[in-house]
Amino acid sequence: MDSSKKLVFSEPFMSQRRKVISAFSLGVGVSLIFLTLLLLNNTSLTVPKVQGFLQGSDSDSSFSWRFPFTARSSNGSVSFLQRAEVNVSEEGLEKTLVGNLTVNQKNESLHVKAKEEHSSSLKNVTLLGVGNAHVGNSSCSAGGDGKCGEGLVRESCNVSVASFRGECDIFDGKWVRDESKPYYALGSCPHIDRDFDCHLNGRPDSEYVKWKWQPNGCDIPSLNATDFLEKLQGQKLVFVGDSLNRNMWESLVCILRQSIRDKKRVFEISGKTEFKKKDIYAFRFEDYNCSVDFVSSPFIVQESTFKGINGSFETLRLDLMDQTTTTYHDADIIVFNTGHWWTHEKTSRGEDYYQEGNHVYSRLKVLDAYTRALATWAKWIDNNIDANRTQVFFRGYSVTHFRGGQWNSGGQCHKETQPISSGKHLRKYPSKMRAFEHVIPKMKTPVIYLNISRLTDYRKDGHPSIYRMEYKTAEERTSAELHQDCSHWCLPGVPDTWNELLYAYLLKYGKGHWKS
Ligand SMILES: *[C@@H]1O[C@H](CO)[C@@H](O)[C@H](O)[C@H]1NC(C)=O
Ligand SMILES: *[C@@H]1O[C@H](CO)[C@@H](O)[C@H](O)[C@H]1NC(C)=O
Ligand SMILES: *[C@@H]1O[C@H](CO)[C@@H](O)[C@H](O)[C@H]1NC(C)=O
Ligand SMILES: *[C@@H]1O[C@H](CO)[C@@H](O)[C@H](O)[C@H]1NC(C)=O
Ligand SMILES: *[C@@H]1O[C@H](CO)[C@@H](O)[C@H](O)[C@H]1NC(C)=O
Ligand SMILES: *[C@@H]1O[C@H](CO)[C@@H](O)[C@H](O)[C@H]1NC(C)=O
Ligand SMILES: *[C@@H]1O[C@H](CO)[C@@H](O)[C@H](O)[C@H]1NC(C)=O
Ligand SMILES: *[C@@H]1O[C@H](CO)[C@@H](O)[C@H](O)[C@H]1NC(C)=O
Ligand SMILES: *[C@@H]1O[C@H](CO)[C@@H](O)[C@H](O)[C@H]1NC(C)=O
Ligand SMILES: *[C@@H]1O[C@H](CO)[C@@H](O)[C@H](O)[C@H]1NC(C)=O
Ligand SMILES: *[C@@H]1O[C@H](CO)[C@@H](O)[C@H](O)[C@H]1NC(C)=O
Ligand SMILES: *[C@@H]1O[C@H](CO)[C@@H](O)[C@H](O)[C@H]1NC(C)=O
Repeated sequence: MDSSKKLVFSEPFMSQRRKVISAFSLGVGVSLIFLTLLLLNNTSLTVPKVQGFLQGSDSDSSFSWRFPFTARSSNGSVSFLQRAEVNVSEEGLEKTLVGNLTVNQKNESLHVKAKEEHSSSLKNVTLLGVGNAHVGNSSCSAGGDGKCGEGLVRESCNVSVASFRGECDIFDGKWVRDESKPYYALGSCPHIDRDFDCHLNGRPDSEYVKWKWQPNGCDIPSLNATDFLEKLQGQKLVFVGDSLNRNMWESLVCILRQSIRDKKRVFEISGKTEFKKKDIYAFRFEDYNCSVDFVSSPFIVQESTFKGINGSFETLRLDLMDQTTTTYHDADIIVFNTGHWWTHEKTSRGEDYYQEGNHVYSRLKVLDAYTRALATWAKWIDNNIDANRTQVFFRGYSVTHFRGGQWNSGGQCHKETQPISSGKHLRKYPSKMRAFEHVIPKMKTPVIYLNISRLTDYRKDGHPSIYRMEYKTAEERTSAELHQDCSHWCLPGVPDTWNELLYAYLLKYGKGHWKS
């Protein structure tokens, strides 16, 4: 199969790589490391939320996590508190129990070091180490006013390092009506691929653009495009991944463009006007000497071919990064995603498809392969990214909403005009993201995880459904109902929110002008 041709289509509408026989379940138990660390602002006695932003050292006997968090301050703005580093010996972590989020912390030592990173009004922070398990022999040395082991709040302590359901996990929240949205008028941005421009394709309702994501424990700033561009001055921001990252990229280009008076000074550097081919695209914002790029690399790792006895066949090198790395390794901000192509159908059912070195696995489960690829990615990041210059993000899995079938079997989301209202109807956290959470703590380079799965899960109303293209005839439209797009998002729409969250993080952790 011609792989360049294949990429012209949005992934869910691609023809299958090889015949699909039957689905198999990804019931692979992914063990997660749970440890709790809670930071308590004892001035106001509210518990700040802790974000899953982790850092680890690759060393054999220990690793450390770093996590930032925010809390709603009395005036409602987001204030940044501090960053803490925790080292836990591996021995203790091996004994982690997954089921009930407890950590058996037998005799690992817990070194906690907290340091103020930015000025903050919330000085008196107490650092608490903890799981449901007791912090046996822990030694804590907290900087600043930090203390250790005081005022333990048991109920809040069984959160995992990975989830930090403290009080301000900005991904834990709800959608609320916001009449000030969208950031750019429906149908107004020429840089949206037609398959995301639902309004131009005839979608009659427009309520789906009037929502904002409201975290439960704090507020996120709205995206100030002028400010974003000023801070991005002289920098390069690159989205790397599949068409869902293209979706996010086009959203950001449109949001930023909205603030530019002379729209001609925003352009794709090689004049491209369609962005669906496997390629590299760069939008230049002339007034700010910066660019916002998209590198199509759906697996992140390299698609390849293998010469077997019976001829050549397509493989996926789990041990090598895609050759596109040279185009983004020196970027100032990189936002990765991968996930939607790691399906049974798109990976030859895992049979004679995954390759490492000269070995082609006769069979490998998709989750296993995905985890190996992420390890390759993590290693590449640690060896090639200058963390002093580049801020790395990984955007989580965007949830799909096919009713009564899948993308290739009549699944539908047409006529959905309201988000899901109850969290009870949401799905389980994707196992691929659990696998990702397992990889990230072992990294040296700080990676910010945009954990957007849940917030997308609510938005069954946000997909193009049948409005994924323009229909010339009624017949075309009728047939469109059979192939709905319930995985990408209309623009303006849900990816605008991902960019808001990106902005919120950049204000805290961005390098260069972002620091000021
Ligand atoms: C955590 O461990 C790493 C590697 O062993 C070490 O460099 C670092 O200083 C430790 N941090 C703390 C807070 O102990
Ligand atoms: C957690 O699970 C372990 C073993 O499954 C069990 O012994 C323990 O009582 C559980 N703890 C809680 C708080 O449920
Ligand atoms: C951990 O505890 C076990 C027994 O619970 C003990 O045998 C072992 O020496 C301890 N390890 C360390 C590093 O303290
Ligand atoms: C809100 O509080 C923060 C931190 O105390 C402060 O920097 C900011 O100026 C305040 N904003 C308003 C609008 O009062
Ligand atoms: C910090 O909290 C402690 C205990 O709650 C309190 O005694 C102390 O005065 C506080 N310090 C500051 C600087 O607010
Ligand atoms: C470690 O914890 C155990 C049980 O909590 C306790 O008996 C022991 O004295 C502690 N050891 C140290 C060095 O604190
Ligand atoms: C945390 O523990 C509390 C009480 O022990 C329990 O009610 C709650 O469900 C637990 N949360 C999680 C996420 O396990
Ligand atoms: C991401 O969000 C999900 C809820 O959707 C949560 O279960 C998971 O623990 C979160 N992961 C991190 C690293 O915060
Ligand atoms: C947006 O940022 C610009 C530049 O920093 C500033 O002048 C403007 O007041 C901001 N707008 C809002 C609404 O905060
Ligand atoms: C534009 O940014 C680049 C870095 O990306 C820098 O080298 C160059 O000097 C800048 N040009 C101007 C005119 O500021
Ligand atoms: C090559 O083809 C033959 C006949 O179809 C088959 O028996 C054999 O297993 C194949 N070998 C490989 C390595 O796929
Ligand atoms: C990053 O910055 C730190 C502190 O400024 C410095 O010690 C380190 O050498 C720098 N690393 C690189 C790769 O430039």
